[in-house]
Amino acid sequence: MAKNAGKPRKLKTVMIGCGGRAQAHMAAMLSSKAIDLVAVCDLDEAKLKAAGEKFGVKKLYNNMEEAIGTEKPEFVDICTPPTIRTSIVEPAIKAGAPHILIEKPIALTPSESRRLVELGKDRLIAVNTQYQWMPHWQRFWEILAKKELGDILYIRASTKADILEQGPHTLDLAMKAARISGLPDPEWVIAGAAGVAYHGAIPVPGDVTAIAGLGDARLFINHGGTAPEVPGEKVFWYHIQVDVVGTKGRLWVTLNQGWTLWYKGKFTKGKTDWGKNDGQSQAGLYIELRDRIHAGTWQEFPTRVEIAAKNSELMMATYLSALNNTKVDLPAKLPDSLVKRVGKLAK
Ligand SMILES: NC(=O)c1ccc[n+]([C@@H]2O[C@H](COP(=O)([O-])OP(=O)(O)OC[C@H]3O[C@@H](n4cnc5c(N)ncnc54)[C@H](O)[C@@H]3O)[C@@H](O)[C@H]2O)c1
Repeated sequence: MAKNAGKPRKLKTVMIGCGGRAQAHMAAMLSSKAIDLVAVCDLDEAKLKAAGEKFGVKKLYNNMEEAIGTEKPEFVDICTPPTIRTSIVEPAIKAGAPHILIEKPIALTPSESRRLVELGKDRLIAVNTQYQWMPHWQRFWEILAKKELGDILYIRASTKADILEQGPHTLDLAMKAARISGLPDPEWVIAGAAGVAYHGAIPVPGDVTAIAGLGDARLFINHGGTAPEVPGEKVFWYHIQVDVVGTKGRLWVTLNQGWTLWYKGKFTKGKTDWGKNDGQSQAGLYIELRDRIHAGTWQEFPTRVEIAAKNSELMMATYLSALNNTKVDLPAKLPDSLVKRVGKLAK
């Protein structure tokens, strides 16, 4: 019998961008055994060569269109900074990219997010909010889907980093917990914000506190220096926590200081470990990508851009609510002009 008989075929992939985060992407491509990384591409010759050597990839390109046109991959992983999104996704599609993964945050302005949704209508544009595939979250999705926590009343999502930096992860988890529990998308949001952080030249509120309505349930969002600490956590970036409170139970999950689950009258605890869980979740994402692209069920990919765009809209609606001192009803066609106004937020 052939050596690979029965094993699913690997997904033929080209990697665009060989910077910091791409190292975790390429390591997980190998560990997942789901990806056939045929070529890598970066404008920076030193990073390109280093990635080729480290991950054993022979075909190196410094022009994305040439890489896609020559290799004709099934899937293109684009790992570039947030200032480079539609400006790289559009030419990647023109060059023949059939399905694409982009990093978070998907967009710095509301219109860019809407454009990505249009581009993702007839192909998969998946978003790299990989935490969903952490082994503990995979178990929690099943518990939530079975309504083991009863009706969900509150979800809290927080981190000390600004909302555009880590909101894509916390809101991805919070809104997946909401959706899987049968709650509707956010219907309105009220927010306060202070201070300014920058992504490139784009201003983002430094600190956001918000409450959103999901039917009868409420989502509480805290992003920035005033967000609650994770007990025992020493690393600024790891103060990430999501709390799901239901009528019959409760789930509290931190990035790196464990989780606690109250359900079926029992109280259990487990470990979380960013160093290990990140690689596991990134590999899990690639396995599901391979399986769904090959099965033709990519429309159901859990982090497709339509879903991420709703979270992006919620994040930017918090800016508008804070700036106008008013409740914002959702969905809303938010104007790009609100981003410039963020630069004037009081410290
Ligand atoms: N999901 C996560 O947990 C996670 C963690 C860290 C960073 N990120 C995100 O990953 C993204 C990338 O961050 P990073 O730290 O790797 O950035 P980086 O600046 O280290 O790397 C980006 C790379 O893209 C290359 N590049 C830019 N334009 C290109 C083009 N046209 N063709 C080929 N290569 C091009 C650059 O030369 C650079 O090497 C950001 O959006 C960041 O927010 C996500």
